[in-house]
Amino acid sequence: MRILSVVGARPNFMKLAPVDRELAKRPDVEHVIVHTGQHYDPEMSATFFEQLWIPAPDYHLDVGSGSHAQQTARVMQRLEPILTELHPDLVLVYGDVNSTVAAALTAAKLGLRVGHVEAGLRSRDWSMPEEINRIVTDRLSDVLFAPSRDALANLALEGIPAERVQFVGNIMIDALCWALPLAQELDAPARHGVAGGPYAVVTLHRPTNVDEPAVLRELCQALDRLGSEMAVLFPVHPRTRERLRALDTRRNGGGLRLLEPLGYVEMLSLVAGAELVITDSGGLQEETTFLGVPCLTVRANTERPVTCLHGTNRLVAPRWEAILAAAARARHGRSPARPVIERWDGRTAERIARVLCEGVRYDANEAEPSAGRPPRQSRRAVAIPQPATAG
Ligand code: UD1
Repeated sequence: MRILSVVGARPNFMKLAPVDRELAKRPDVEHVIVHTGQHYDPEMSATFFEQLWIPAPDYHLDVGSGSHAQQTARVMQRLEPILTELHPDLVLVYGDVNSTVAAALTAAKLGLRVGHVEAGLRSRDWSMPEEINRIVTDRLSDVLFAPSRDALANLALEGIPAERVQFVGNIMIDALCWALPLAQELDAPARHGVAGGPYAVVTLHRPTNVDEPAVLRELCQALDRLGSEMAVLFPVHPRTRERLRALDTRRNGGGLRLLEPLGYVEMLSLVAGAELVITDSGGLQEETTFLGVPCLTVRANTERPVTCLHGTNRLVAPRWEAILAAAARARHGRSPARPVIERWDGRTAERIARVLCEGVRYDANEAEPSAGRPPRQSRRAVAIPQPATAG
């Protein structure tokens, strides 16, 4: 069986890694990896392949940056001849970036089967390009790998036949469980000089937060003020770096420290020990929930509601008073117990491989199929750092 995975942007790479590791165990599977090149800076791409032990891509499409239409079109044009030549049994796409929808569309038009890892998430905010990418990709997919029950409900509401949907759990947690021992060994808080004290980790890159100077200024004000209470480590996405430069205000004062984008393991190491995370990323909402670290998501909505309902995530408006008030509440309300979310257990890639290679079904209503599976040790990580005091 030939399975071809298409990835392109930073959040795709940690989803690919566990799937690739699992497929590599199966001698009857040839796993071909195509990198579209949507993200190309070494710290946005190559570092992730190295740290997550992903083999070098078999094909690199080198599409680079551009408008949404340009980026999507370039992926389609450059991917089509590869798919035509290799004619894979299944094209696997991940998440919700432009490379995802472009690959799904190209494959579907060639009559190839499409599998979507992280299907069914919905923010219901059509102004987000990712929402369009999710909906179109799911509509085109033959096998939809859902991370959570809300995703199953969204797909059912949209009329996607239940037999196409597999409730496999959250692939991000597989990557996290795999990397956590490495992250603890790395001890990034000590390397950044923040071990032992409270610190916040910040990532912001969504156009709604960084493209409008007034909003970005407000966010910077919040971070400056938070920096008077604790160290604030802010690895900066290239888009945000450009916008900050244009703002031309003083940065890196007080506790606020702007950093280059970090590799996966270093970021995980920092997040696991953080007092607080402030973000607009999708993956961090999930990672902080799994780790039990309070998270403020600077957005009006989330496609990952389970992280707010059962996890540590709270939505917050992009206003400095709102952010500081929410930060204080989150710090003082921190629970020492980590949330447990169904099938976020580090075994999602194994389930995906079983669906693809053995025809196993992961139904929403049934206990997991277990016949024939040898007993195995849980891959859930242990010894997750917790704050010294819980307020
Ligand atoms: C993309 C995804 C977003 C995801 C984010 C993670 C889409 C629509 N968006 O957004 O869902 O959360 O990745 O990072 O696919 N740039 C560089 N170097 C790079 C990549 C980008 O300098 O390696 C700069 C370029 O100026 C580029 C800008 O960042 O124009 C935006 O990159 P792009 O890939 O268009 O979208 P992201 O904002 O990264």
